[in-house]
Amino acid sequence: MSRPCINEATRGSTGRFSVSDDLRFYLAYNLHMIYFLWFVLIALIVSTTTSLALILNETWRITIRRGVPAVSSSWPVVDKVIKAQVFPREGLILDLGCGTGWALRRIWRAGYNGPFIGYETALLPYLVGRSWNWITRAPVKIVRQDFSAAPFEKAKGIYLFLLPRMLPEVGKMIATKSRVGTVVVSAEFAIPGWEAEKVLEARGVTARQAKIHVYRVKAQES
Ligand SMILES: C[S@@+](CC[C@H](N)C(=O)[O-])C[C@H]1O[C@@H](n2cnc3c(N)ncnc32)[C@H](O)[C@@H]1O
Repeated sequence: MSRPCINEATRGSTGRFSVSDDLRFYLAYNLHMIYFLWFVLIALIVSTTTSLALILNETWRITIRRGVPAVSSSWPVVDKVIKAQVFPREGLILDLGCGTGWALRRIWRAGYNGPFIGYETALLPYLVGRSWNWITRAPVKIVRQDFSAAPFEKAKGIYLFLLPRMLPEVGKMIATKSRVGTVVVSAEFAIPGWEAEKVLEARGVTARQAKIHVYRVKAQES
């Protein structure tokens, strides 16, 4: 059956056809396309809403409930740590709560030999970090696990940029699990009760002149 021409189909008894008749005719003949577009629109809405819900859930879980925002250290802070050469060139460097792992990648690019391992529990920075590692071919391992599982006893250097309220407990963990002499760098916030070997300054995330606290693990007093 041949498809009627628009003019024939829509011309009424008066012999004239209107724009609305034309449109109705067009819609009737293209219903399948309209259903398909509806399907695409609904799929887009569902996927966007699901992604937003995941991001909000992740933000809630990490940023609000646990109170640790996935904010990266500032470039000047990491560059200062590199320029001051506080970490040994050889040996394992850990980032406790590494976010996307960019600080470790920057240290690697500056010529450090590593190995480098970052621990991160939040899904989004973890996925972004893994993707960047793949794109840049950086030999930085990012583990989606609580940093209490890190191999502290093998580390030569430990980097952290965490909220002050976490630092007393993290300080105890580092002191009991790490080897004497391990270099510990706490960006922007001091570890309570620890005596810094050096305090550097650079423009940070929380302050124009943020402090970078450099420590060395000491023998435990018994
Ligand atoms: C402020 S960001 C620092 C990111 C990175 N270290 C940097 O300097 O660019 C802190 C990160 O620590 C992560 N974090 C907090 N507690 C953690 C834990 N117990 N184990 C692993 N990651 C943790 C958070 O999800 C957040 O991404």
